[in-house]
Amino acid sequence: MDYIGNINYWDTKFKSRGESLLEPDTELIDNVDILSKGSVLDIACGDGRNSLFLLKKGFNVTGVDFSSEALDRLNHFVKLYKHEISTVKVNLNSENSLDSIGCFDNIIINHYRLPVHQMKSISNRLKKDGILFITGFGHKHIPDEKIKDGDLIRESDFEYLNHKMKLIHYNEYSDARGFFVTYIYKKL
Ligand SMILES: C[S@@+](CC[C@H](N)C(=O)[O-])C[C@H]1O[C@@H](n2cnc3c(N)ncnc32)[C@H](O)[C@@H]1O
Repeated sequence: MDYIGNINYWDTKFKSRGESLLEPDTELIDNVDILSKGSVLDIACGDGRNSLFLLKKGFNVTGVDFSSEALDRLNHFVKLYKHEISTVKVNLNSENSLDSIGCFDNIIINHYRLPVHQMKSISNRLKKDGILFITGFGHKHIPDEKIKDGDLIRESDFEYLNHKMKLIHYNEYSDARGFFVTYIYKKL
């Protein structure tokens, strides 16, 4: 599982990236007005294209990822643009690894499929009226060497959310890279 699970793969990938960030995700740009004002937890934030976009929009951002190279790059770019961020190195495969992270107005997860044990408790990390925004490769994407069947976001992933979470937006689309889905939930 290189695309999602291998820390060496990600450290090497982020180390070899150049002196610029990728553009923020277009689904996040299109839906940023749905987010609640305040704080954002960016789960599997990578080197922070989305975190930085949200900082520029005035959100307080905490980024978590298991790649030190990713977090170092993120902190570099945040400093460059004179913002502030909190970053925490977390392995999301470990049980309870988000337990002490706190409670946020929004959680975004972009191009990462959250393990079931984390999904089960994700609503505990959201304040009332908080928004959970998830986008990435979806169920109709054709798996390959890099993006495996187990990496695809499926409707069944959300069965683990409790009754306090309501789906307020769904989108699916395809482009040259494949098939994508976006789910936005609100905590009631
Ligand atoms: C496809 S990248 C997405 C990065 C970022 N969200 C974005 O959209 O640019 C997947 C990210 O998940 C992180 N990741 C993969 N498995 C992880 C794990 N078990 N715990 C924490 N982070 C993980 C990788 O380090 C990488 O930054």
